[in-house]
Amino acid sequence: MRIVFDMGGSIICPEGTPDINFVKKFSKFLIGLKKKRHGIIIVTGGGRVAKNYIKAAREFKPDEDILDSIGILGTRMNANVIISALGKHAYRNVAETREDLEHGINSGKIVVMGGTVPGQTTDAVSVAAAQFFSAKMIIIGTDVKGIYDKDPDKYKNAKLLKKISAKKLFKMVNVKKHTAGPLTIMDPVAAKLLCKNKIKTVVLNGRDLANIQKAIKNERFVGSVIE
Ligand code: UTP
Repeated sequence: MRIVFDMGGSIICPEGTPDINFVKKFSKFLIGLKKKRHGIIIVTGGGRVAKNYIKAAREFKPDEDILDSIGILGTRMNANVIISALGKHAYRNVAETREDLEHGINSGKIVVMGGTVPGQTTDAVSVAAAQFFSAKMIIIGTDVKGIYDKDPDKYKNAKLLKKISAKKLFKMVNVKKHTAGPLTIMDPVAAKLLCKNKIKTVVLNGRDLANIQKAIKNERFVGSVIE
């Protein structure tokens, strides 16, 4: 099966540097999937490194495109860490364009991407890559269990939504104009793309690899399905 992993920066790089223990486990997991003949694209978020640099540069009030460019560099640093961990199993360049992505896919190796253009986040990159790759599944790994009806960090009674339509999700997230830096659930550009492309998308805790395995095997898992 062709799978795109959208791994939030909060999982890969929760502090100032990548979480090496997790990166080791995750890359082992990916190599295992590849050996079982799954086709894989990984899209990495920027995490703390992107957030810190955006915050520092914001002090000088540049336009949002500059801040987005900084964010993109952060995502690509994390992508290079995943490429390093995957070694010979990874296409050795971070795919930045459609042509790169095509080369990477044709190499038969695991392709790793970060951000691409300003005005969005890696969520949108993942959906666009999944469409190009004709992926059967997008796995969005976050630092919570899935999509909630309200912010679980703020509200103790927030409920995990087992299912949500792409349309409803788009309405939930399309609340403010894009600015560089973190969003709560999903980038509205990605949600809009999901409304058009019917790709099975699951949102779950990116650190729980056993749970991700269940989702891939179409077994019961903890998380949300966007349909
Ligand atoms: P992330 O994809 O990590 O998004 O990109 P995020 O929502 O800020 O962080 P997580 O998912 O909670 O970890 C980091 C930043 O890089 C820029 C945006 O400014 C984004 O906030 N970016 C990323 C782009 O401009 N374009 C892209 O294609 C990707």
